[in-house]
Amino acid sequence: MGMLDGKIGLVTGGARGIGRAICEACVREGARIAVADLRESEAQETANSLGDAAMAITMDVTDASSIQNGVATVEEAWGGIDLLVNNAGIFNMASIDKITPEDYRHQYDVNVGGTIFAIQAVVPVMRKRGGGAIINFASQAGRRGEPNITIYCSTKAAIISVTQSLALELAGDNIRVNAIAPGVIDTPMWDIVDAQFSEYEGKPIGQKKREVGDAVPLGRMGDPADVADPCVFLASDTARYITAQTLNVDGGNWMS
Ligand SMILES: NC(=O)c1ccc[n+]([C@@H]2O[C@H](COP(=O)([O-])OP(=O)(O)OC[C@H]3O[C@@H](n4cnc5c(N)ncnc54)[C@H](O)[C@@H]3O)[C@@H](O)[C@H]2O)c1
Repeated sequence: MGMLDGKIGLVTGGARGIGRAICEACVREGARIAVADLRESEAQETANSLGDAAMAITMDVTDASSIQNGVATVEEAWGGIDLLVNNAGIFNMASIDKITPEDYRHQYDVNVGGTIFAIQAVVPVMRKRGGGAIINFASQAGRRGEPNITIYCSTKAAIISVTQSLALELAGDNIRVNAIAPGVIDTPMWDIVDAQFSEYEGKPIGQKKREVGDAVPLGRMGDPADVADPCVFLASDTARYITAQTLNVDGGNWMS
């Protein structure tokens, strides 16, 4: 028996990285999953690799009507949604003299707005099913600030707060809202992070990645699957009495 037998889920940013690993883990545990992403062909490839239990949805989480259309497509095809994983996210570094209004808005629109408006779209569908589980993506970057990462860190701190408020608001609907705060996970995003640190700290490409991995108490960067398995737990009925929490999945980097 799988931990998510019979459940229907939607994973934003599901085409690659942590999102793809979550789609794989959910299907392994018996769920049907909509792989929702801006990257159409990568989302299709991920869904194809999972067979009949997955479908690809082209979705831009900065566009509320794109989210609504995606949610409607899943509801029409499979009859509802029990799980929403708000994993889509973007990272950009900028020192205070280089922050632009456009970058500020874009990171907030994807990381914070994308989460809020995806929750807004699924809540009526979950209410019809008698409840559901939502998992948002924060970060260890939301637990404390970092130089030159003001915007990203603050979007992830906002996710911790959004998770708490909506968990309280939706508790009466039997909808649990939790978050995961990953540490350093080896995904395509970290290649972007590494390249930007190389620019800001003058380090050769790859050095920052090695340094952050060595500094983790468990001794290595995480794999996407290290994050996907705790996400399955939070999505499952095993976590039925857990809501409003942000779970650190970071090899011991942050203690709370
Ligand atoms: N990798 C890490 O070390 C790490 C650490 C902490 C938190 N996180 C968070 O985990 C989540 C996944 O990160 P990842 O490392 O797998 O990133 P990634 O860049 O490898 O994958 C992110 C996915 O989100 C999609 N996406 C981006 N903008 C979108 C939009 N507007 N609409 C729909 N999809 C969009 C991308 O196309 C991509 O498929 C993000 O929220 C990230 O902030 C990652």
